[in-house]
Amino acid sequence: MKELDNLVQAGRVHRTVYTDENIFSVEQQKVFSETWVYLAHASEIKEPNSFVARKMGQRSVIVTRDKENKIHALLNRCTHRGATVCREKKGDKTPFFTCPYHGWTFRNTGECAAIPHQDAYGEGLDKQQFNLKKVPFVSEYRGFIFATLNPEKGRKGIKEHLKSAAGRLDEWIDHNGGDHRAIRISGAQQYTVHANWKCLYDNAGDGYHPEFSHQSLLKMTQERYGSGMDLDYFSGGIDSTPMYSQSLGNGHSFLDQRPCMYENSAFERQRPQPGREAIVEQLTKEVGEQKAKAYFEMATGAGMNLNIFPNLLFIGNQMQVITPLSVGLSDMTWYSTTVDNVPTVVNTLRIRTQEDFTAFGEPDDTANFEACFKGMQEREIDWIDISRHLGRAEDSTDDSGVVTSVISSDIHMRTYYEEWKKLMQSNDASRLG
Ligand code: FES
Ligand SMILES: [Fe+2]
Repeated sequence: MKELDNLVQAGRVHRTVYTDENIFSVEQQKVFSETWVYLAHASEIKEPNSFVARKMGQRSVIVTRDKENKIHALLNRCTHRGATVCREKKGDKTPFFTCPYHGWTFRNTGECAAIPHQDAYGEGLDKQQFNLKKVPFVSEYRGFIFATLNPEKGRKGIKEHLKSAAGRLDEWIDHNGGDHRAIRISGAQQYTVHANWKCLYDNAGDGYHPEFSHQSLLKMTQERYGSGMDLDYFSGGIDSTPMYSQSLGNGHSFLDQRPCMYENSAFERQRPQPGREAIVEQLTKEVGEQKAKAYFEMATGAGMNLNIFPNLLFIGNQMQVITPLSVGLSDMTWYSTTVDNVPTVVNTLRIRTQEDFTAFGEPDDTANFEACFKGMQEREIDWIDISRHLGRAEDSTDDSGVVTSVISSDIHMRTYYEEWKKLMQSNDASRLG
C-alpha cells in the first residue's frame, strides 16, 4: 500500500486511516495477524483443560491449556461448515469441544476427535484434515500470552518483539509483588465504543489530555480534598514535571507518572475509598507498620501507562485490551488484577482503586474517542495532528534505541504509526497451523 506514505506523514495522519473500510480490512491481516497480538493471561487458564474464548482482531480464537499444560490458540471456526464451535466465554474441565451444529468434536489441542455417523463419508476419511486450524505461534512472557501467524516473528519469540517493553513489564510485575505467577485476572469490565480501534490506542500514551478531559475529576478532588491528591500533577505545566513518555520500539510506548505519583506515598494521595480506614487499622495491627505500608503502595496504581502495540495497555494495576469489531466499533475490556499470597484486605483495596478511574475517568475518554471518530467522518477536513513536540530537539535516545520525550509529546502516536505503516506495507507472511 504505497499510498500509505501519503496518508501517514511525520506529524499528521489522514482521517481515512481511521474511517476507510479497505484499510480496516487490510489491518486485520497485516496488524492483527502479522505481529504479536495479546490474547490472554495465564491465570485465566491456570488448570489443565481450561480455556477462554478471545479475539485476535476479528478472528475468534479459543485459547486452551491442554492436559500436558501446553497452550494453544485454536480458530473457533468449525472445519465442517464454519459454525462457531465454542460459544462459552470460559471454562475448565474441557478436554473436548463439540460443535453445536452437527456434533463434530475436537480435542483442546485442535485435533478432530469424532465425526458423528462418520461411515456416510466413506472408508478412507482422514479425520486429521478436519482438525481445527491453529494460530501457529503462541508465546508467553511472564504470564502474558501472545500469538502471531507470522513465522519470522514467531520464531524470534515474544521477548524479541517486546524489546524494551519487556523491562517495563518486569517493573509492572515488581510493583505487583514481583512473582508473576501470583498475579491473577480477577474480573473485567467490557463495553463497546463507537470509534475506530486506533482512536482508543491514540489515547493510551496521551499525557496532554488529562488536564482538560478529566477536569471534572481534578476539580472535584481539589475542591473536596485540597491539592496534592490523586492526579493533580496533571493540573498544569505538565512538561516541567519529571514525568516523561517514551517510544520503546516496535510500536510500544510508555508514559511514566511515577516521578510525581510516587514522589512520596501514592497511597496517601488517593481519594477516600469505602472501608479504607478499617483496613489500614486492621492490617497495620496484623503485620506491623512497615509491611502494611508496602502492601498499601502495592494496592495503589502502578503509575505506569505501558502500551504494547497493537492491543494491550497497562494502566495502573489494570490491563486494557482493545479489539476492533468493525471500522467504527471497538471492544474495550478492562481487566482488574489481584495478587495471591497477600492478606485478603490488600486485594480489597486493590479492587477499590481499580474501580475508581474506570468510573470517574474512563467515561471522559470514551466520549472523546467517539467524538473524534465522528469528526473524522467530515470529508472536507483531512488531517489528524500528531506533531506535538515533533522536531524540537527535546528528545533523547539511549543505547537500546528508547526515545524519551516530555509527557505531553505525541511520540506515542508517532511511534506506533511508524510500526503500523511498516506492517501495513509488509509482504503477507501469515500461515495457519
Ligand atoms: S458446522 Fe460444526 S458440526 Fe457442522
Ligand atoms: Fe484519559
